[in-house]
Amino acid sequence: MLHWDAPPPPMPTLPHHSPNDAARERVVVTDVALRDGLQNQPEHVGTAGKAALMRALAAAGVPSIEAASFVSPRAVPQMADAAEVIAEALALAPLRASALAPNLRGLERAIAAGTREVAVVLSCTETMNRKNINMSLAEATRVSCETLRAARTRGLATRGYLAVAFECPFEGTTPPERVLELGLALLEAGADEIVVADTIGAASPAQVQQLLGRLLLQLPVDRLGLHLHDTRGMGVANAYAGLELGVRRFDASAGGLGGCPFAPGASGNVATEDLVLMLEQSGFATGISLPGLAAAVDLAGELLGRPLGGHCMPWLRRQLARSAPAAPREAGREPAAG
Ligand code: COA
Ligand code: ZN
Repeated sequence: MLHWDAPPPPMPTLPHHSPNDAARERVVVTDVALRDGLQNQPEHVGTAGKAALMRALAAAGVPSIEAASFVSPRAVPQMADAAEVIAEALALAPLRASALAPNLRGLERAIAAGTREVAVVLSCTETMNRKNINMSLAEATRVSCETLRAARTRGLATRGYLAVAFECPFEGTTPPERVLELGLALLEAGADEIVVADTIGAASPAQVQQLLGRLLLQLPVDRLGLHLHDTRGMGVANAYAGLELGVRRFDASAGGLGGCPFAPGASGNVATEDLVLMLEQSGFATGISLPGLAAAVDLAGELLGRPLGGHCMPWLRRQLARSAPAAPREAGREPAAG
């Protein structure tokens, strides 16, 4: 039985210093706070703030981020500085930084900015595509595939999101056969990775296992990722359900920031700190330090002017406070009374 209150346990993860890191199975976590997180916030975070957040994530050992999207700045004003953000991200190599590109115009802008990895977002329902990118499902499928093919031809790494793969805010439950059909189309067009997205955070672990169970009959598990939102508090449980089926790539967002401006009811992504804690404590290696992540979450909170944090943050802050060295007392001064 584990007791997570006093006495303080050792930090479950300081992966950079962990002697048995190499022996543990690796899980790749992509932090999407810069894109899925910031795109939906009423506060404006400028390029300098985004660059600081990227540096904090890189310093925490986050291997991969989604940094920006090359979409219409009229549709998503928060992403208008995508080229500048990518330039900042490139300076942080080996951090991998991807960007959304919904069409060939977005791909050209991404390539001009030096982006090495792009993602397309194909929603699995007719209405969601219309709301998000003003295209029918058929047109969105065609444009997404064309964008992926062009990206591959130009030597970029590629991700294909399947948005509203479980439930659509407009059309209800998404038929698994359609998710499979669209996933196969994106794979065929050159997606290195298919990312199954619970855009509005509606799935349960059982539903994750049902859908993935179907997809994995025809899609290789090492090409599959999960993008989960925590709307109903089941984000980490859903990630664990995917983990049990062999998924080793997950999106998450520092502080649980996130949501899609075009999908009513979409709240924050599963928090990176919650996901990393679950993964490390379950014996997987992420390469991410929880203290470093806590610092990135605090910075994101400062940038937005309100405290942020996933479910584990109060506990994590207590552990960090206990393990911090006592502040040295100034010689000759007694602490002031009161
Ligand atoms: N980047 C910047 N501008 C773009 C663009 C891109 N990738 N694609 C199109 N545009 C411009 C066009 O040049 C045109 O500009 P103009 O009005 O100055 O001539 C304008 O946007 C409209 O283009 P159009 O082809 O008619 O597209 P649209 O109005 O149907 O919008 C999208 C389509 C995809 C560009 C738009 O819906 C969009 O950017 N959506 C983003 C959705 C998103 O980011 N969702 C959250 C993430 S899932
Ligand atoms: Zn999302």
